[in-house]
Amino acid sequence: EKDYEDIDVELVEKGTVGLIYLDRPKSLNALSDALMYEVVDACQIFDKMEEVGAIVITGRGKAFAAGADIKEMKDKTFQEAQKSRIFSHWNVLTAVRKPIIAAVNGFALGGGCELAMACDIILAGEKALFGQPEVKLGTIPGIGGTQRLIREVGKSRAMEMILTGEAFMNAQEAAQKGLVSRVVPGDNDALVAEAIQVAKSIAALSRPTIAMAKEAVNAAYELGLSEGIKREHSLFCSTFALEDQKEGMSAFVEKRDAQFKHR
Ligand code: HXC
Repeated sequence: EKDYEDIDVELVEKGTVGLIYLDRPKSLNALSDALMYEVVDACQIFDKMEEVGAIVITGRGKAFAAGADIKEMKDKTFQEAQKSRIFSHWNVLTAVRKPIIAAVNGFALGGGCELAMACDIILAGEKALFGQPEVKLGTIPGIGGTQRLIREVGKSRAMEMILTGEAFMNAQEAAQKGLVSRVVPGDNDALVAEAIQVAKSIAALSRPTIAMAKEAVNAAYELGLSEGIKREHSLFCSTFALEDQKEGMSAFVEKRDAQFKHR
């Protein structure tokens, strides 16, 4: 157990799920550099821990995250932003092999929306609100917003959100458009409990199989269809080298529950 300042970290479901709370509720969980270094560090540690099968990220209070920390970045010069490769530490998240579930309970604005979209699954609470208000601050989305949002909700809706900085998307619309997988009724606790259940069901499966499934789906973002299908094919063939594939299929034929070794 590590002591973090701006996040809270717990192991739940017998250590199979790593839970991260963004914990700066007074600033609506504004994503300062310090906070994001902690998120990245916790994700890397969970990724290495054998018992952990999936990660949940959520926010304390009324926001998931209201964006990157405006107070921290406001006086940065172009050179400072460029030289420090501002926000590049966030990219570590995309190298995490284990599935990351975002449980979005309130504002997911700017960098908050981008953080959610960098996760593998988004579950929304009834009060979730997604938006990219950066233009109102004289800047633009800077960690994937312009690239990811368009893939999730289409060009017109993404442009409307990014170019007006308003036109926030509520939970219902986000579910209808496919930005989130579904809306979980009830309060924040119900949302987090549901995200943990999804994480737990993933954690019950074979780690290497899940890592390959995630890799194959993510390839769809990077590759054209025929290359993506080739990548899927080689990952699919690779699963036949796993003991867990033998166990999973034998268990089905023998009408019993699979006892995966690598989980
Ligand atoms: C720093 C923030 C913050 C942020 C809120 N706060 N968002 N501090 N960075 N992104 C602080 C406020 O200053 C205030 O602190 C406290 O949180 C509560 O916020 P209020 O505005 O008083 O709350 P409310 O009236 O309920 O309004 C909620 C809100 C508003 C609509 C979400 O806070 C808001 O518009 N926030 C900024 C949203 C935004 O523009 N996000 C994009 C950031 S740019 P004090 O101490 O003043 O009371 C970005 C760039 C991404 O993300 C590019 C690369 C990462």
